[in-house]
Amino acid sequence: MNLLVLHGVNLNMFGQRDPGQYGTATLADIDAALHALAAELGVGVECFQTNHEGAMCERIHQAHRDAVDAVVINAGAWTHTSVAIRDALAILKCPIVEVHMSNVHAREPFRHVSYIAGIAQGQICGFGVDSYLLGLRAGASAAQAAIK
Ligand code: DQA
Repeated sequence: MNLLVLHGVNLNMFGQRDPGQYGTATLADIDAALHALAAELGVGVECFQTNHEGAMCERIHQAHRDAVDAVVINAGAWTHTSVAIRDALAILKCPIVEVHMSNVHAREPFRHVSYIAGIAQGQICGFGVDSYLLGLRAGASAAQAAIK
């Protein structure tokens, strides 16, 4: 089983960016934790980050060609703005899990709107790095259920 974790715009700055909101873990720390959990679960995982919306759409198209088993996505600010990323994700046939480090619902009103939530199986937010790890578990479990 192969899962893809997508990190959107500005998320390469985790560790330096607003630690009160996002903690001190870097993106490399998060990816290392995801790889360790994937090994424990016996699944494959690839992690991808970009600050370019078109590159994110193209990586999602690639995921469709590769027939990945689940996608876990933290689209960052694109969550609240991008019809293009939502439409790209909607092409996928596999389960999609939306994750956020912070509790977006406890923040500014513009963060309460997600263009992704409506095409995701579910959303996990507010648990810091654990949001990603819970998201990977949820994606693996949903993919397993989809295969049965
Ligand atoms: C975020 C929340 C978004 O509102 C914000 O734009 C981000 C990070 C999070 O992980 O909490 O860039 O997706």
